[in-house]
Amino acid sequence: MPSPRGGADVVVVLAAGQGTRMRSPLPKVLHELCGRPLLGYVIDQALSLDPRRVVVVVGHGADDVRAYLEGLGLGERLAVVVQEERLGTGHAVQCALPEVGEATGRVVVLYGDMPLMTAASLRELCDSQEGAGMALFTALPLDPRGFGRVLRDPETDAFVRIVEEKDATPAERDVEEVNVGVYAFPGPGLLEYAPRLSSDNAQGEYYLTDVVSAFVRDGRPVVPVVLEDEQEAIGINTLAHLAEAREVVQWRILEEHLAAGVRIEDPATTYVDWGVTIGAGTRILPCTVIRGGVAIAEDCEVGPFSHLRTGTVLERGAKVGNFTETKKARLGAGSKASHLTYVGDAVIGARTNIGAGTVFANYDGVAKHETTVGDDAFVGSGTILVGPARVGDGATTGAGAVVTGGKSVPPGETWIGVPAKPHTRRTQT
Ligand code: UD1
Ligand code: CA
Repeated sequence: MPSPRGGADVVVVLAAGQGTRMRSPLPKVLHELCGRPLLGYVIDQALSLDPRRVVVVVGHGADDVRAYLEGLGLGERLAVVVQEERLGTGHAVQCALPEVGEATGRVVVLYGDMPLMTAASLRELCDSQEGAGMALFTALPLDPRGFGRVLRDPETDAFVRIVEEKDATPAERDVEEVNVGVYAFPGPGLLEYAPRLSSDNAQGEYYLTDVVSAFVRDGRPVVPVVLEDEQEAIGINTLAHLAEAREVVQWRILEEHLAAGVRIEDPATTYVDWGVTIGAGTRILPCTVIRGGVAIAEDCEVGPFSHLRTGTVLERGAKVGNFTETKKARLGAGSKASHLTYVGDAVIGARTNIGAGTVFANYDGVAKHETTVGDDAFVGSGTILVGPARVGDGATTGAGAVVTGGKSVPPGETWIGVPAKPHTRRTQT
C-alpha cells in the first residue's frame, strides 16, 4: 500500500543504545525532558506520520523501556524488538526487519535520542522521498563534532556518501554538512539493502548509513534535505545535552500555552511540564514550577513562587500565591491559598479561603491522609489540619488552630485553639 503524502507505512525507532556518556543507570531514552521520557517525544514524532506500525528496537534496560512503551496504550500498532548485542545502527534496523514485514510503502527510521525533531520537518522529509529513492536530513551545525559527515560530489554537488567521524580523513572531518540521523526509505529498498551490510569500519559496527551509500551505488535517487532549524538535530548523548534540549522543549510548551491565551508573565522563570492543561485567562506569575499531571482551569492565578505538583486541580478562578506548594489537591472555583501554605492530599470546595501559613499535615510517617474543606469556609492563618480531617461548609478555624486527625469541624461552626475545639461564644448563641 503506497504511503499517503507526508506519512509513513512503518516507522522504526532505534532505542537500544546504552547511553554510556549520560553516566546514569537509567536507560538513556527514559531520561525526562519537562517531565516526560525522551522516548515519549520520539514516539509522538513517529505517530505524527500516521504509520500502520511503529517498531521500537530496545536493548539496554529493555524491560524498563518496554514497560514504558506498553504503558502508552498503542496496542497492535506497537512492536518492540530486542537487540541483544549492540552491533550498530544498521544491525538494529536488521533486528527490526521481521516486524517491518512486507512494507511496500515508506519506512522512516528515527533515533530514540532525538526528541526535538518536529512533525512538520518529518513531513517535509517524507514529501522528498519518492519511488525507489530515499531522503535524509542533513544540517550545518556550528559544531559538527560527533556527527557523520555528508560527502558530496565537488562537481555536481550530488550526495555521495556519509562518513562516520571515526572513519573520516582529516579533510573529510572539515566538511561542515552532517548527517542528522533521520531517514525516509522506500520499504522494498530498505528490505533489500539492510541485510547486506558489512561491519568493515573503524568501529566494527554495522552502519545504517551504509544503506544510503548502497542506494547511491545502484543509481537510486538520494535526496539530502537540509534541516532549516538545526536545533531539531540536537541529539542527547550527555546530561548537558539533556539540559540544552530541556530549554527548547520548555519554550515550545510555554509558546503553546501563550498561544492558547495563558498569560505567562516571564517565560524565562516559568517551568511547566509536558501534559499540563491551563485554561485561557489564567495568569502564571514568575518563578513558578508546575509539574506534569496538573490541570488548571480558566481565569486562575498561580505564583509568583508557587510549586504545583502532580494531582493538583485548580477550578475556575482559583488562586495559589507565593510560597505555596500543592500536591494531589483540588481547589474549588474561586478558592484561594495565597501565602506560605502547603496543600497536600486535599479537596477544597468553592470560594474558600486558606489563610497564610496553613499546613495540610497529610503524612503521619507511614501513610498519607486526605483532608476535605467545604465551600465558603475560612481557614485561619497558621491552621494545621492533621489528615484525615474535615472542615464543613461555611466553617471557620481561628488563627493557629490545630484540627487533629479524624476531627470534623461541622458546617458553620468556628473552632479555635490547640487542639481545636468549638468556640463557645459562637456555640452558645
Ligand atoms: C549516528 C549516525 C551518524 C549521525 C548521528 C546523528 C550511524 C552509523 N551514524 O551516529 O552518521 O551523524 O547518528 O546523531 O548511524 N542504536 C541502537 N543499536 C545499536 C546502536 C545504536 O539501537 O547497536 C541506537 C541508539 O540507541 C541511538 C541511535 O541508534 O538512539 C544512534 O546511535 P548512536 O550510537 O548515538 O549513533 P551516533 O554515533 O550518534
Ligand atoms: Ca547519537
